Amino acid sequence: MSQANWEAYESDAHRALAEARAIADLEDARIIWLGRKSALALALREVRDRETGTLLNGIRNRLEAAVNEREHDLAAAELDRRLRDEVVDITLPGERLPLGSLHPITQVRRTVEDAFIGLGYEVRDDREVETVEYNFDKLAFLPTHSARSPRDTFFFDDTHVLRTETSPSQIHIMEEKEPPIYMVSIGRVYRRDAITATRYPIFHQFEGLAVDRGLTLADLKGTLLHVMRQLYGADRRVRFRTHYFPFTEPSIEPDVSCGLCGGAGCRTCKFSGWIEMGGAGMVDPRVFENVGVDPQEWSGFAFGMGLERTAQLRHDIPDIRALWEGDLRVLRQF
Ligand code: PHE
Repeated sequence: MSQANWEAYESDAHRALAEARAIADLEDARIIWLGRKSALALALREVRDRETGTLLNGIRNRLEAAVNEREHDLAAAELDRRLRDEVVDITLPGERLPLGSLHPITQVRRTVEDAFIGLGYEVRDDREVETVEYNFDKLAFLPTHSARSPRDTFFFDDTHVLRTETSPSQIHIMEEKEPPIYMVSIGRVYRRDAITATRYPIFHQFEGLAVDRGLTLADLKGTLLHVMRQLYGADRRVRFRTHYFPFTEPSIEPDVSCGLCGGAGCRTCKFSGWIEMGGAGMVDPRVFENVGVDPQEWSGFAFGMGLERTAQLRHDIPDIRALWEGDLRVLRQF
């Protein structure tokens, strides 16, 4: 090629490099005009005289510099474009994710836990599959008690049941440690009841047990009064009615004053001014003997109540089934 032709080659190459719109185009152009098989590279290999060598080397150096420069420009332009296109306005409000809330039973459970932890009680969570021995025998249920029937209780076999109450926790903790004991046990219990507005075969209870020297019914009453006020409000009152449970003597049923009518009488309290809260009493000496605690030295009280009932009263929920159906239209209200 003549010198004039090499000048045309160089200016064509510069134009091709300048026209490259992306790094990939630039690389294509570089291969054509500067690559190992380009006319320039082939000619450089054949150079015989100094003059041609200087000319071709000059062209190569300038083209290489042009490639580098274009590459730098393209990279900078690409960065500019991305900074412009991919800009994120961090001042815009984010996408709001739907926030869940705790189930009303869980809320009540935590309130109960807080109330008892505040009194120095320990919180227990015992097994739901229980033995007949712990669910009935050691709690001094008579052999003829109706709860021992498979019509009332879910049996796995002759010796295993789904616990019908949280009271077996009383036995477990007294077997595990020496008094003084202050514990509350919370969890699910099971009874063979048909599902209605007020009953469900699965429900939750909280069970309290205090064992110490010289405890009396007055201590039980003060404890329940404190917890009822935590759960329902400071103006609540508590009263006891006599009752029977196999594992307490005397046994009582505590009532809390009705919060809707303030004790005057309304539909919720069946016009009595009081609402039934569960069962309680002084630990029966036979139960102490069953777990090897000396009833001459120690006395105690126990109580058990339903969480569903507590949640219903707190939130005025008319039908217990609403607490088990998981209907978001209901649950979103808590
Ligand atoms: N376990 C009894 C029930 O479910 C309640 C209770 C607990 C009564 C503790 C007395 C003492 O009905």
